[in-house]
Amino acid sequence: MSNDSGQEMKPIASPREAILGMIAEKTPGYEILNTLQQFGASMAMMTVRRAVQRGQLDQSSIHRIGDFGAGTGGPTWALTKIAEQIGATVDAIEQSETGTDEIIQSGILPHWHVKREDGIAYLETVGRDEAQRYDLITAFMLGPDDEEVSLFRKLANVSTRALLPGGHLIITSDGGTLENVLKLCQRSGAKFFGMDGLQSGEKWVAPPAIIIPQTSLAQIAATLPETTRGEIREYNYEAMPPKLEEHWIFRDEQRVDASVLAWQTAKGERYVLNTKGELIVIYNKGRASRDATSEDLERFRQTVEHTLSTNNNEHFSTFYHVHFPEAIERVKQKDKIK
Ligand SMILES: C[S@@+](CC[C@H](N)C(=O)[O-])C[C@H]1O[C@@H](n2cnc3c(N)ncnc32)[C@H](O)[C@@H]1O
Repeated sequence: MSNDSGQEMKPIASPREAILGMIAEKTPGYEILNTLQQFGASMAMMTVRRAVQRGQLDQSSIHRIGDFGAGTGGPTWALTKIAEQIGATVDAIEQSETGTDEIIQSGILPHWHVKREDGIAYLETVGRDEAQRYDLITAFMLGPDDEEVSLFRKLANVSTRALLPGGHLIITSDGGTLENVLKLCQRSGAKFFGMDGLQSGEKWVAPPAIIIPQTSLAQIAATLPETTRGEIREYNYEAMPPKLEEHWIFRDEQRVDASVLAWQTAKGERYVLNTKGELIVIYNKGRASRDATSEDLERFRQTVEHTLSTNNNEHFSTFYHVHFPEAIERVKQKDKIK
């Protein structure tokens, strides 16, 4: 198509089309972010974009966005760029001084859109004033959280009121935390959307995410968590050298796998190291389990390191070197409490 002066005319993209075409790396301003901010920005932009694409979020009903646990603002920056397309505003909600200073100093948001306080308390006050409520609350890389997902449950609870009806809460987090959030959402029976992560080779393009409508939050916040250990599957009892195994978990009714490093002794004890850095010993034909003691840790360490010295598998080795130190730390902490 061309206009009177013969110039090519581009059709004006609708806000939805504009969002669907957004790529953080190609958005002006991306180049001034630091590496950590850039990483967060790409993930967040892709997450919102995918949710809009799938119809899980309707951009036309988003006017106010609150970014809970904004950190140094990489994802917040992505939200401001999306907000520009739809005429929305963004608030960063972050308790750390370092994070909020960086958000303001790098010009991501002016100080009046940066809420430097405990985000749960802040959202509680937002919930008391209808004019302050949000249409979208995001929590990118939510955490740190405990096994009972207490932070997530508090966030779900205050978001029940801090979101307007029709609003949504989006969560991404590390694999362990997100898995626990997902389990809680599933146990609640309330409606929510799970979005599988997107990988290109070894690289994450978008993390797995959970999108919860405001109408489901009260039911989810009232659901009590169940510890993961009851869900470890049946197994046979032959001795097996340590190996990486996939455990089944379901996300959005699709099966996805979570890795564990498992070793089964000749006595039928099964040692399982998971991505949360928990080393659990399952015994009595899988009917009972206990947290590893320091003796268990040492036994596990010797066996795994022996296996690695004879057969150095890269994934196995990385998993072990990332999660075993966390298991040591847990046992140390527990011993201290005793
Ligand atoms: C893992 S970082 C993620 C930062 C950012 N969203 C990102 O993806 O890059 C989690 C952030 O949440 C913040 N946070 C945790 N609990 C919070 C709370 N109750 N109120 C406000 N911020 C909180 C932490 O200070 C931290 O900056």
